[in-house]
Amino acid sequence: MTLNTDHLWMPFTANKQFKAAPRVLVSAKDMHYTSDDGRQILDGTAGLWCVNAGHGREPIVRAVCDMAHELDYAPMFQMAHPKVFEAASKLAAIAPEGMDKVFFTNSGSESVDTALKMALTYHRANGDAQRTKFIGRERGYHGVGFGGISVGGIGGNRKHFSANLLAGVDHLPHTLSIEHAAFSRGQPEWGAHLADTLENILALHDPSTIAGVIIEPLAGSTGVLIPPKGYLEKIRAICDKHGLLLIFDEVITGFGRLGAPFAAQYFNVTPDIMTLAKGLNNAAVPMGAVVCKNEIYDTVVNNAPANAIEFFHGYTYTGHPLAAAACCASIDVYLQEKLFDRARDLSPHFENEIHKLKNALHVKDVRNLGLVGGIELNSREGAVGARAYETFVKCFEMGVLIRVTGDIIAISPPLIINEAQITEIFSTIARALDTVA
Ligand SMILES: Cc1ncc(COP(=O)(O)O)c(C=O)c1O
Repeated sequence: MTLNTDHLWMPFTANKQFKAAPRVLVSAKDMHYTSDDGRQILDGTAGLWCVNAGHGREPIVRAVCDMAHELDYAPMFQMAHPKVFEAASKLAAIAPEGMDKVFFTNSGSESVDTALKMALTYHRANGDAQRTKFIGRERGYHGVGFGGISVGGIGGNRKHFSANLLAGVDHLPHTLSIEHAAFSRGQPEWGAHLADTLENILALHDPSTIAGVIIEPLAGSTGVLIPPKGYLEKIRAICDKHGLLLIFDEVITGFGRLGAPFAAQYFNVTPDIMTLAKGLNNAAVPMGAVVCKNEIYDTVVNNAPANAIEFFHGYTYTGHPLAAAACCASIDVYLQEKLFDRARDLSPHFENEIHKLKNALHVKDVRNLGLVGGIELNSREGAVGARAYETFVKCFEMGVLIRVTGDIIAISPPLIINEAQITEIFSTIARALDTVA
């Protein structure tokens, strides 16, 4: 296939390197992509952690096509359409108890900005307007908006914009320690005490000035950081003690990745606000959502003057009909095919297979939970990330799509995967590692 690659500026990509040898996907069905040279590529990453029901699923495709014929677009400011109410109800039905209110966005980044603004709006409506600061966490990824990179903890994403970040943000330490918890299966025993750092940070700021804490319950993008046992419970307790809102960024962990609808239910720790995207509608049409406790919605809506807009926020494409149709159909597929249970049932096999890489060449750590796995490599001297990138290219040539960040390989397949395909992913990675210097 001849492509003119001159005009496209690619996201989070080494453009010159990519354009010298493009990897191009032309179609997809169930567990596989087809590349432009006609090869089947087993999807080890659910696209970008988002195609949880597998590719090209007929009920979702049909729902989007039908809606495109029926209602291409409807404005959502002072207007609505039936599908968006249905999508909110279906989402509320699988959300943690007491979290029944849904605000739609178009991406994870927008969900994060929306959640931060929602938290500030709530405190103001609650007579707590001095609560304006946020606490994120090192190695947190919350998308690429100015809000998201401010509470996020990735130097590379922040450094060019460091003069323009949100004011009043501090960060918890991240929870990964290869020294104390290498090759953990599931949640590490070590590390719950790191949550106590929150008390220290609060003491420096005065807790009554803090609006909320935002963390990924399991950090995905920076290399699969699994929360230590007891850590999230402590964070929740400290937030409660000081009146802070706890925001779980569940853009990756939502929709069955850990074997429950959301990480909140898996860990039995309920946040006040959840940010969602990706699996929300199986990535069929861009969509995100923020789900909050009823009390947040009630406080904001009931304290506003009669007939006044309560939350000055929204997007042209909020609740887009095609995205809403895909959302309803995706949640139906998840529930009818019991895909969240399937992820839970497959996770022991996934754990056994990924930990077989313990003795593979270059491997420094292996970690996993649900259907998420991280394989950390020793970096090549003076070339951090090169080894993982070469492994990624090799795996792609060998017919398996993996994802790499720095020298960490992250695996997060669609939940429809079978045991043989799980084995295929990890045995291919082992063979690829053998070929990499
Ligand atoms: C935890 C988390 N939050 C936010 C985002 C941003 O989502 P998007 O790329 O849809 O803006 C991501 C994307 O990977 C994510 O993993």
